[in-house]
Amino acid sequence: MEQIRRTKIADVLKMKDFGTVINVKGWVRTRRGNKQVSFIALNDGSTIHNIQIVVDNNLFSEDFLKPITTGACLNVNGTLVESQGKGQTVEIQAKEIEIYGTADPNTYPLQKKGHSMEFLREIAHLRPRTNTFGAVLRIRHNMAYAIHKYFNDKGYYYLHTPIITASDCEGAGAMFQVTTLPLDNPPKTEDGVIDYGQDFFGKMASLTVSGQLEGELGAMALGAIYTFGPTFRAENSNTPRHLAEFWMIEPEIAFFDITDNMDLAEDFLKYLIRYALENCIDDLQFLNDMFDKDLIERLQSVLNSDFIRLTYTEGVKILEESGQKFEFPVYWGADLQSEHERYLVEKHFKKPVILTDYPKDIKAFYMKQNEDGKTVRAMDVLFPKIGEIIGGSQREEDFNKLVNRIQEMNIPDKDMWWYLDTRRFGSAPHAGFGLGFERLLLFVTGMGNIRDVIPFPRTPGNAEF
Ligand code: 4AD
Ligand code: MG
Repeated sequence: MEQIRRTKIADVLKMKDFGTVINVKGWVRTRRGNKQVSFIALNDGSTIHNIQIVVDNNLFSEDFLKPITTGACLNVNGTLVESQGKGQTVEIQAKEIEIYGTADPNTYPLQKKGHSMEFLREIAHLRPRTNTFGAVLRIRHNMAYAIHKYFNDKGYYYLHTPIITASDCEGAGAMFQVTTLPLDNPPKTEDGVIDYGQDFFGKMASLTVSGQLEGELGAMALGAIYTFGPTFRAENSNTPRHLAEFWMIEPEIAFFDITDNMDLAEDFLKYLIRYALENCIDDLQFLNDMFDKDLIERLQSVLNSDFIRLTYTEGVKILEESGQKFEFPVYWGADLQSEHERYLVEKHFKKPVILTDYPKDIKAFYMKQNEDGKTVRAMDVLFPKIGEIIGGSQREEDFNKLVNRIQEMNIPDKDMWWYLDTRRFGSAPHAGFGLGFERLLLFVTGMGNIRDVIPFPRTPGNAEF
């Protein structure tokens, strides 16, 4: 075969120099045709769109063409021509074809169409080759890039906080333990308890649930930082919005109060949505047409609305007076469920909502305590179809108040000395939040299940691939 430099299909579709011979490589989506001519729809992942390869059956033997079936990988040299058919502007008239790899139609699971999301999860190793997952994964990449760009352009530093940790940031006790001790016969102390002194780190260690505590250390030196990394929660939540391994973005900013924090969260989310609309429109249009007819409209509507800001107390009052039947009861002090959050957003305000000043007993130890002695300066951003997309707060910067809270909540303070040093030495008002990356992607892609916006989901009972 003649050696020609490969052109990506995304670029081919923009070309106008008809008559040139180009090279494309990719996977066969479909092949159809008649005795004289075959049409191959080829996709290389660079775009949702396929390039049509037109094959004159007189140039290639039937035996050669036979294994070119859905899923096969091809290397094609051909002439770029203006397309006769509708739906595409250019196509390629094949001159030379090399089959890199065949895909036996009897065993290749991704035949033409009509697979359920559940089935595709069972073949998560192949599902990136579908239009849907191609679109989702390209959007996922674009959102990750936009997040770094947003913070970099604003002068925030990307801080790499540890994955393995000895502290439970959220205090929810939902951590995966990391150990090299033999589980069938761990060393014991004289009191008969497991001797973690002999474990790899010389103490009990786990996978982090959040990079916030170390993020605060960064903010108290660099001024404004963000983290963007995997986080882990061993909560047995089998819902369309929970993963055991998910990615979180956590900005933390010195001298921010809760209003600055809300302004940042709103601006950040709108920036990301705008970025998706400006850079991923082909993929969004596909998802809009196939899954969620209101997707693009919903994205635009969030972009054009001012988020409602109200206190938890006011929010609970609206829910109590709504006359709505909820599965979980709502009263002051209750942790809001996604049905409550979605009622406020979708039914009552029809806009994103930022709820603030939650009861201290349902929030983490580090949140700034309000003067009323009952609430803390927490903020959750609630989105249509999702519920909570961001959780954050202004932090308690007062050493004594923080220590008291740690003791009240029975948090082992011997593990907290380094965190408390930020309040011992040069303490300052500061705030931050965590955006669940996959919750963002649920919103931006319109997908219904969080397992379908991450390449290889980890959920209770599932760590395949
Ligand atoms: O509200 P969370 O638990 O807040 C924190 O971890 C804080 N330390 C963040 C901070 O202030 N720096 O989690 C933050 C966000 C949630 O709003 C949600 O979007 C997402 O992380 N999240 C999950 N996403 C997927 N699966 C789960 N199990 C999640 N738990 C939280
Ligand atoms: Mg939360």
